[in-house]
Amino acid sequence: MKAVICPSYGPPEVLVIKEINNPVPQKKEVLVKIIASAVNTGDVRIRGLKVEGFMKVIMRLVLGFTKPRKPILGTVFSGIVEQVGAEATKFKVGDEVYGTTGFKQGCHAEFLCIPEKKVITYKPRNASFEEAAALPFGGQTAIYFLRKGKITEIKNPKVLIYGATGSVGTAAVQIAKHYGAVVTAVCSSKGKELTQTLGADNIILYDKEDFTEASDKFDIIFDTVGKTSKKQCASLLKPEGKFFSVEGADIASERAENLEFLSQLYENKTYISIIDKKYPMDQVIEAHRYVDTGRKKGNVVLRIAP
Ligand SMILES: NC(=O)c1ccc[n+]([C@@H]2O[C@H](COP(=O)([O-])OP(=O)(O)OC[C@H]3O[C@@H](n4cnc5c(N)ncnc54)[C@H](OP(=O)(O)O)[C@@H]3O)[C@@H](O)[C@H]2O)c1
Repeated sequence: MKAVICPSYGPPEVLVIKEINNPVPQKKEVLVKIIASAVNTGDVRIRGLKVEGFMKVIMRLVLGFTKPRKPILGTVFSGIVEQVGAEATKFKVGDEVYGTTGFKQGCHAEFLCIPEKKVITYKPRNASFEEAAALPFGGQTAIYFLRKGKITEIKNPKVLIYGATGSVGTAAVQIAKHYGAVVTAVCSSKGKELTQTLGADNIILYDKEDFTEASDKFDIIFDTVGKTSKKQCASLLKPEGKFFSVEGADIASERAENLEFLSQLYENKTYISIIDKKYPMDQVIEAHRYVDTGRKKGNVVLRIAP
Protein backbone atom coordinates (compact mmCIF):
# COMPACT_ATOMS: atom_id res chain seq x y z
CA MET A 1 0.00 0.00 0.00
CA LYS A 2 0.97 3.66 -0.33
CA ALA A 3 1.68 5.59 2.87
CA VAL A 4 2.96 9.03 3.83
CA ILE A 5 6.22 8.51 5.71
CA CYS A 6 7.93 11.06 7.95
CA PRO A 7 11.53 9.79 8.07
CA SER A 8 12.82 12.66 10.24
CA TYR A 9 11.54 15.75 12.03
CA GLY A 10 11.61 18.83 9.81
CA PRO A 11 9.76 20.99 7.27
CA PRO A 12 6.95 19.62 5.03
CA GLU A 13 9.54 18.58 2.44
CA VAL A 14 10.79 15.72 4.66
CA LEU A 15 7.59 13.80 3.83
CA VAL A 16 7.74 11.00 1.25
CA ILE A 17 5.15 8.63 -0.15
CA LYS A 18 6.35 5.03 -0.04
CA GLU A 19 5.05 1.63 -1.03
CA ILE A 20 4.98 -0.61 2.06
CA ASN A 21 3.36 -3.92 3.07
CA ASN A 22 -0.36 -3.92 3.85
CA PRO A 23 -1.09 -4.36 7.57
CA VAL A 24 -2.76 -7.62 8.66
CA PRO A 25 -5.50 -7.45 11.33
CA GLN A 26 -4.96 -9.19 14.68
CA LYS A 27 -7.80 -11.26 16.18
CA LYS A 28 -9.68 -8.28 17.67
CA GLU A 29 -8.82 -5.74 14.99
CA VAL A 30 -10.46 -4.54 11.81
CA LEU A 31 -8.68 -3.63 8.60
CA VAL A 32 -10.02 -0.34 7.21
CA LYS A 33 -9.54 0.79 3.61
CA ILE A 34 -9.03 4.50 4.20
CA ILE A 35 -10.89 6.84 1.87
CA ALA A 36 -10.12 10.17 3.53
CA SER A 37 -8.03 11.61 6.32
CA ALA A 38 -7.15 15.14 7.42
CA VAL A 39 -3.93 17.04 7.95
CA ASN A 40 -4.35 18.56 11.39
CA THR A 41 -2.24 20.87 13.52
CA GLY A 42 -1.29 17.77 15.53
CA ASP A 43 0.30 16.24 12.42
CA VAL A 44 2.37 19.29 11.52
CA ARG A 45 3.38 19.64 15.16
CA ILE A 46 4.73 16.06 15.16
CA ARG A 47 6.40 16.42 11.74
CA GLY A 48 8.17 19.62 12.77
CA LEU A 49 8.56 18.72 16.47
CA LYS A 50 6.96 22.11 17.05
CA VAL A 51 6.95 22.49 20.81
CA GLU A 52 8.85 24.76 23.09
CA GLY A 53 11.33 24.17 25.91
CA PHE A 54 10.88 21.19 28.19
CA MET A 55 7.91 19.88 26.18
CA LYS A 56 10.35 19.14 23.35
CA VAL A 57 12.08 16.55 25.55
CA ILE A 58 8.70 15.05 26.52
CA MET A 59 7.63 14.93 22.86
CA ARG A 60 10.88 13.22 21.84
CA LEU A 61 10.34 10.62 24.58
CA VAL A 62 6.76 10.01 23.47
CA LEU A 63 7.26 10.16 19.70
CA GLY A 64 10.86 9.10 19.14
CA PHE A 65 14.10 10.85 19.97
CA THR A 66 15.61 11.66 16.57
CA LYS A 67 12.70 10.75 14.30
CA PRO A 68 9.09 9.62 14.70
CA ARG A 69 9.00 6.04 16.00
CA LYS A 70 5.69 5.65 14.13
CA PRO A 71 6.70 6.97 10.72
CA ILE A 72 3.23 6.98 9.11
CA LEU A 73 1.56 10.27 10.05
CA GLY A 74 -2.16 10.95 10.36
CA THR A 75 -4.48 10.52 13.33
CA VAL A 76 -7.96 10.59 11.73
CA PHE A 77 -9.57 8.35 9.15
CA SER A 78 -12.79 7.55 7.39
CA GLY A 79 -13.19 4.50 5.23
CA ILE A 80 -14.67 1.05 4.69
CA VAL A 81 -14.09 -2.10 6.72
CA GLU A 82 -12.18 -4.43 4.39
CA GLN A 83 -11.51 -7.36 6.72
CA VAL A 84 -12.30 -8.34 10.32
CA GLY A 85 -10.08 -10.30 12.72
CA ALA A 86 -11.14 -13.78 13.84
CA GLU A 87 -12.51 -12.53 17.19
CA ALA A 88 -13.78 -9.10 16.11
CA THR A 89 -17.57 -8.89 16.26
CA LYS A 90 -18.54 -5.21 16.34
CA PHE A 91 -18.09 -4.37 12.64
CA LYS A 92 -18.57 -6.29 9.41
CA VAL A 93 -16.96 -6.08 6.00
CA GLY A 94 -18.41 -3.12 4.08
CA ASP A 95 -19.27 -0.98 7.14
CA GLU A 96 -18.54 2.71 6.64
CA VAL A 97 -16.57 3.93 9.64
CA TYR A 98 -14.43 6.77 10.94
CA GLY A 99 -12.17 7.28 13.91
CA THR A 100 -8.88 8.37 15.41
CA THR A 101 -5.62 6.70 16.37
CA GLY A 102 -3.97 9.35 18.59
CA PHE A 103 -0.22 8.96 19.04
CA LYS A 104 -0.34 5.61 17.21
CA GLN A 105 -1.05 7.62 14.01
CA GLY A 106 -0.89 5.60 10.74
CA CYS A 107 -3.92 7.18 9.00
CA HIS A 108 -2.11 8.72 6.01
CA ALA A 109 -2.03 5.31 4.33
CA GLU A 110 -4.31 3.23 2.15
CA PHE A 111 -5.03 0.72 4.94
CA LEU A 112 -5.11 0.78 8.73
CA CYS A 113 -5.56 -1.92 11.36
CA ILE A 114 -7.33 -0.77 14.52
CA PRO A 115 -8.69 -2.71 17.52
CA GLU A 116 -12.48 -2.65 17.28
CA LYS A 117 -12.70 -1.37 20.88
CA LYS A 118 -10.61 1.73 20.18
CA VAL A 119 -11.82 5.06 18.80
CA ILE A 120 -13.82 3.90 15.78
CA THR A 121 -17.53 4.05 15.01
CA TYR A 122 -20.00 4.22 12.13
CA LYS A 123 -19.68 7.22 9.84
CA PRO A 124 -22.70 9.57 10.01
CA ARG A 125 -25.05 8.32 7.28
CA ASN A 126 -25.42 11.78 5.75
CA ALA A 127 -21.69 12.60 5.75
CA SER A 128 -19.33 12.00 2.85
CA PHE A 129 -16.04 10.30 3.74
CA GLU A 130 -14.33 13.69 3.46
CA GLU A 131 -16.86 15.35 5.78
CA ALA A 132 -16.47 12.52 8.28
CA ALA A 133 -12.66 12.84 8.27
CA ALA A 134 -13.06 16.53 9.20
CA LEU A 135 -15.12 15.76 12.33
CA PRO A 136 -12.95 14.05 14.96
CA PHE A 137 -9.92 16.27 15.56
CA GLY A 138 -11.67 19.50 16.48
CA GLY A 139 -14.81 17.72 17.68
CA GLN A 140 -13.07 15.51 20.24
CA THR A 141 -10.99 18.41 21.55
CA ALA A 142 -13.96 20.76 21.89
CA ILE A 143 -16.06 18.11 23.66
CA TYR A 144 -13.21 17.38 26.07
CA PHE A 145 -12.57 20.97 27.16
CA LEU A 146 -16.22 22.11 27.25
CA ARG A 147 -17.23 19.09 29.34
CA LYS A 148 -14.23 19.73 31.59
CA GLY A 149 -15.81 23.14 32.15
CA LYS A 150 -18.99 21.24 33.15
CA ILE A 151 -20.98 23.04 30.48
CA THR A 152 -23.85 20.55 30.85
CA GLU A 153 -24.30 21.53 34.52
CA ILE A 154 -24.47 25.29 33.96
CA LYS A 155 -27.89 26.91 33.53
CA ASN A 156 -27.92 29.17 30.45
CA PRO A 157 -24.13 29.02 30.05
CA LYS A 158 -22.28 31.99 28.62
CA VAL A 159 -19.23 30.85 26.70
CA LEU A 160 -16.47 32.76 24.94
CA ILE A 161 -14.60 30.88 22.23
CA TYR A 162 -11.32 32.59 21.43
CA GLY A 163 -10.13 31.61 17.92
CA ALA A 164 -13.47 30.46 16.53
CA THR A 165 -12.40 29.60 12.97
CA GLY A 166 -9.85 26.77 13.28
CA SER A 167 -10.56 23.06 13.54
CA VAL A 168 -11.06 23.21 17.32
CA GLY A 169 -12.73 26.64 17.25
CA THR A 170 -15.40 25.79 14.65
CA ALA A 171 -16.20 22.63 16.62
CA ALA A 172 -16.28 24.46 19.96
CA VAL A 173 -18.79 27.07 18.77
CA GLN A 174 -21.11 24.32 17.51
CA ILE A 175 -20.79 22.07 20.57
CA ALA A 176 -21.34 25.00 22.95
CA LYS A 177 -24.44 26.02 20.96
CA HIS A 178 -25.69 22.44 21.17
CA TYR A 179 -25.44 22.67 24.97
CA GLY A 180 -27.62 25.79 24.92
CA ALA A 181 -24.84 28.32 25.48
CA VAL A 182 -24.92 31.95 24.46
CA VAL A 183 -21.69 31.98 22.48
CA THR A 184 -19.38 34.91 21.94
CA ALA A 185 -16.85 34.10 19.25
CA VAL A 186 -13.55 35.91 18.79
CA CYS A 187 -12.12 35.74 15.26
CA SER A 188 -10.54 37.93 12.57
CA SER A 189 -12.60 39.96 10.06
CA LYS A 190 -11.84 37.20 7.50
CA GLY A 191 -13.58 34.66 9.73
CA LYS A 192 -16.73 36.67 10.44
CA GLU A 193 -18.99 35.03 7.85
CA LEU A 194 -17.94 31.51 8.85
CA THR A 195 -18.51 32.26 12.52
CA GLN A 196 -22.02 33.56 11.73
CA THR A 197 -22.73 30.32 9.83
CA LEU A 198 -21.73 28.34 12.91
CA GLY A 199 -24.40 30.13 14.95
CA ALA A 200 -22.34 32.36 17.25
CA ASP A 201 -24.58 34.86 19.06
CA ASN A 202 -21.97 37.61 19.35
CA ILE A 203 -18.81 38.09 17.35
CA ILE A 204 -15.75 40.11 18.34
CA LEU A 205 -13.24 40.78 15.57
CA TYR A 206 -9.81 40.67 17.17
CA ASP A 207 -8.28 42.80 14.41
CA LYS A 208 -10.82 45.58 15.07
CA GLU A 209 -11.46 45.51 18.83
CA ASP A 210 -9.91 44.34 22.08
CA PHE A 211 -11.97 41.36 23.23
CA THR A 212 -10.85 41.82 26.84
CA GLU A 213 -12.88 45.05 26.94
CA ALA A 214 -16.18 43.22 26.37
CA SER A 215 -18.78 44.05 29.01
CA ASP A 216 -20.10 40.46 29.34
CA LYS A 217 -18.96 37.96 31.96
CA PHE A 218 -18.52 34.29 31.04
CA ASP A 219 -18.90 30.90 32.69
CA ILE A 220 -16.34 29.38 30.34
CA ILE A 221 -13.62 30.95 28.23
CA PHE A 222 -12.01 28.48 25.84
CA ASP A 223 -8.92 29.64 23.97
CA THR A 224 -8.73 27.21 21.05
CA VAL A 225 -5.53 28.66 19.58
CA GLY A 226 -3.39 29.18 22.68
CA LYS A 227 -2.94 32.92 22.10
CA THR A 228 -4.33 34.30 25.37
CA SER A 229 -3.98 33.52 29.07
CA LYS A 230 -6.14 33.22 32.15
CA LYS A 231 -4.59 36.44 33.44
CA GLN A 232 -5.51 38.32 30.26
CA CYS A 233 -9.09 37.03 30.45
CA ALA A 234 -9.55 37.40 34.23
CA SER A 235 -11.88 40.43 34.01
CA LEU A 236 -14.20 38.52 31.64
CA LEU A 237 -14.77 35.55 33.94
CA LYS A 238 -17.70 35.22 36.34
CA PRO A 239 -16.56 34.48 39.93
CA GLU A 240 -16.98 30.72 39.31
CA GLY A 241 -15.95 31.02 35.65
CA LYS A 242 -13.29 28.76 34.19
CA PHE A 243 -10.57 29.38 31.62
CA PHE A 244 -9.21 26.63 29.35
CA SER A 245 -6.54 26.72 26.68
CA VAL A 246 -5.35 24.14 24.16
CA GLU A 247 -1.81 25.27 24.88
CA GLY A 248 -0.13 23.41 27.70
CA ALA A 249 0.09 19.95 29.13
CA ASP A 250 -3.65 19.14 29.12
CA ILE A 251 -4.22 16.77 26.18
CA ALA A 252 -7.81 16.02 25.14
CA SER A 253 -8.66 12.35 25.55
CA GLU A 254 -10.40 10.71 22.60
CA ARG A 255 -13.30 8.29 22.97
CA ALA A 256 -15.56 6.26 20.70
CA GLU A 257 -18.57 7.65 22.66
CA ASN A 258 -17.57 11.17 21.64
CA LEU A 259 -17.52 10.09 18.00
CA GLU A 260 -20.98 8.55 18.42
CA PHE A 261 -22.14 11.86 19.90
CA LEU A 262 -20.66 13.77 16.93
CA SER A 263 -22.37 11.34 14.52
CA GLN A 264 -25.72 11.99 16.25
CA LEU A 265 -25.29 15.76 16.02
CA TYR A 266 -24.28 15.44 12.37
CA GLU A 267 -27.25 13.23 11.52
CA ASN A 268 -29.60 15.64 13.36
CA LYS A 269 -28.09 18.43 11.27
CA THR A 270 -27.02 20.37 14.36
CA TYR A 271 -23.34 20.05 13.43
CA ILE A 272 -21.58 20.69 10.13
CA SER A 273 -18.15 19.77 8.79
CA ILE A 274 -16.02 22.76 7.93
CA ILE A 275 -13.56 21.95 5.15
CA ASP A 276 -11.20 24.66 3.94
CA LYS A 277 -9.18 22.74 1.34
CA LYS A 278 -8.86 19.18 0.03
CA TYR A 279 -5.64 17.64 -1.27
CA PRO A 280 -4.97 14.26 -2.87
CA MET A 281 -2.48 12.10 -0.94
CA ASP A 282 0.35 12.85 -3.39
CA GLN A 283 0.05 16.56 -2.49
CA VAL A 284 0.57 15.96 1.22
CA ILE A 285 3.54 18.37 1.29
CA GLU A 286 1.33 21.21 0.01
CA ALA A 287 -1.30 20.28 2.60
CA HIS A 288 1.32 20.50 5.39
CA ARG A 289 2.56 23.85 4.07
CA TYR A 290 -0.98 25.21 4.23
CA VAL A 291 -1.68 23.88 7.75
CA ASP A 292 1.70 25.32 8.84
CA THR A 293 0.40 28.84 8.08
CA GLY A 294 -1.91 28.63 11.12
CA ARG A 295 -4.59 30.37 9.03
CA LYS A 296 -6.80 27.51 7.83
CA LYS A 297 -10.52 27.76 8.35
CA GLY A 298 -11.82 24.53 9.86
CA ASN A 299 -10.13 21.48 8.40
CA VAL A 300 -7.82 20.34 5.61
CA VAL A 301 -8.85 16.99 4.15
CA LEU A 302 -6.40 14.50 2.63
CA ARG A 303 -8.05 12.28 0.02
CA ILE A 304 -6.41 8.84 0.30
CA ALA A 305 -8.45 6.75 -2.15
CA PRO A 306 -8.43 8.14 -5.71
N1 LIG B 1 -4.48 20.19 24.03
C1 LIG B 1 -5.03 19.41 23.14
O1 LIG B 1 -5.48 18.30 23.43
C2 LIG B 1 -5.13 19.88 21.71
C3 LIG B 1 -5.93 19.17 20.80
C4 LIG B 1 -6.06 19.66 19.50
C5 LIG B 1 -5.37 20.80 19.13
N2 LIG B 1 -4.56 21.42 20.03
C6 LIG B 1 -3.84 22.66 19.66
O2 LIG B 1 -4.84 23.63 19.43
C7 LIG B 1 -4.35 24.62 18.54
C8 LIG B 1 -5.43 24.91 17.53
O3 LIG B 1 -5.65 23.79 16.73
P1 LIG B 1 -6.52 23.89 15.42
O4 LIG B 1 -6.28 22.64 14.68
O5 LIG B 1 -7.90 24.30 15.71
O6 LIG B 1 -5.77 25.12 14.70
P2 LIG B 1 -6.02 25.73 13.27
O7 LIG B 1 -7.20 25.08 12.63
O8 LIG B 1 -4.74 25.75 12.53
O9 LIG B 1 -6.39 27.25 13.67
C9 LIG B 1 -6.26 28.21 12.71
C10 LIG B 1 -7.30 29.30 12.94
O10 LIG B 1 -6.90 30.12 14.03
C11 LIG B 1 -7.18 31.47 13.69
N3 LIG B 1 -6.22 32.34 14.36
C12 LIG B 1 -4.91 32.48 14.08
N4 LIG B 1 -4.34 33.39 14.91
C13 LIG B 1 -5.33 33.81 15.73
C14 LIG B 1 -5.39 34.74 16.82
N5 LIG B 1 -4.31 35.42 17.21
N6 LIG B 1 -6.55 34.93 17.44
C15 LIG B 1 -7.66 34.24 17.07
N7 LIG B 1 -7.68 33.37 16.05
C16 LIG B 1 -6.52 33.15 15.39
C17 LIG B 1 -7.02 31.54 12.18
O11 LIG B 1 -7.87 32.50 11.60
P3 LIG B 1 -7.32 34.00 11.30
O12 LIG B 1 -5.95 33.86 10.78
O13 LIG B 1 -8.31 34.54 10.30
O14 LIG B 1 -7.41 34.67 12.62
C18 LIG B 1 -7.43 30.14 11.72
O15 LIG B 1 -8.77 30.10 11.27
C19 LIG B 1 -3.06 24.04 17.96
O16 LIG B 1 -1.99 24.69 18.61
C20 LIG B 1 -3.09 22.59 18.34
O17 LIG B 1 -1.82 22.04 18.48
C21 LIG B 1 -4.43 21.00 21.31
